[in-house]
Amino acid sequence: MQSTLDSPTLTETKNRSAARALIFDSGVGALSVFAEINKLQPQLECILALDNARFPYGVMNESDLLERVILVVGKLIGQYQPNLCVIACNTASTLVLDELRKRYDIPFVGVVPAIKPAAANSKTQTIGLLATPATVNRSYTNILIQDFAPESEILRLGSSELVYMAERKLRGEPVDLVLLEEILSPFIEHPTLDTLVLACTHFPLLHEEIRQLMPERIAILDCGAAIAQRVRSLLPLVEDQQLRNHQLLLTSEDMDIGAMRAYCSSLGINSAEVFKC
Ligand code: DGL
Repeated sequence: MQSTLDSPTLTETKNRSAARALIFDSGVGALSVFAEINKLQPQLECILALDNARFPYGVMNESDLLERVILVVGKLIGQYQPNLCVIACNTASTLVLDELRKRYDIPFVGVVPAIKPAAANSKTQTIGLLATPATVNRSYTNILIQDFAPESEILRLGSSELVYMAERKLRGEPVDLVLLEEILSPFIEHPTLDTLVLACTHFPLLHEEIRQLMPERIAILDCGAAIAQRVRSLLPLVEDQQLRNHQLLLTSEDMDIGAMRAYCSSLGINSAEVFKC
């Protein structure tokens, strides 16, 4: 995909009337969240920033990840002046939201494990938590469980392999269902599990394949739609706002964007640029 749009100048962004959201992740998880936001508000201008130079976040230590996200998101806010920022990454949101909110005077919408809706949905109070290795062990996640599902049994599974699988799928490669089934087997074989939380924004991109493998009685939840509603409540658009061009930014050119062209085009993203950081 060739770059076709120039970066807006500061004067342009200050003078613009349209609302603009920055959607940030380590990789293609930003696209799963964008897809939900775009369904509700196609007129909202979105900048999707993928920090692929440091992908995957799920194996980074906390202090390095905190420093990295503050640096990249700070530079993006400086250059693109968004009205709102979605940290479309559970691994980052469970760590960096407080710090970002302290530094910048725009709303930050975080994506964190959907423990509360899962506890409300589960009849057996046996819930699967599928996330990155970092998210399943975060103290933020422990607090969510203590606060919203204190009586539930939570089965935690952290997998970076699934994150890579979602990236490969978006580049047009077939999903390895045998490997997926092996990874999900603790959930598939569990006798009382009835709710599975996809707590990594990459995983809704594998929803179809996960659904195919999980027993029918298991509900699969993620918070993409709730995030889109939250964004709409914070950034309502004027009725006559025009359809916008969305922009994809990568922190490294080392990503086969050409292979993702079909998926990106289906979402109305037709250009990509490198944002070195
Ligand atoms: N998409 C991200 C999440 O929601 C992280 C994937 C990764 O970089 O490990 O946690």
